[in-house]
Amino acid sequence: MLDFSRGQSLRFYFEGRPLTGYEGETVAAALVAAGVKVFGYSEKQHRGRGFFCAVGKCSSCLMEIDGRPNVMACMEPLREGMRVKRQEGRGRLP
Ligand code: FES
Repeated sequence: MLDFSRGQSLRFYFEGRPLTGYEGETVAAALVAAGVKVFGYSEKQHRGRGFFCAVGKCSSCLMEIDGRPNVMACMEPLREGMRVKRQEGRGRLP
């Protein structure tokens, strides 16, 4: 039998809204568990982009995390206090 133990709960912020995830999850997993499906918008047609491959191969999940654009949410481990935002197009440095 497989055993999946859940890590310690972590508070993070999505678009300024506090959410709870768990240690050992990626940012994408925590967002999907919280009901967030749109992670950003495409550059030309502003279509919603979300979670697709989940293994760091497609770039569909690029987000702005702690002020850094183009972070793959499916590969980024969740940390306490993280500030996560949807990315518009290619993203911009502050
Ligand atoms: S979902 Fe494909 S790189 Fe993250």
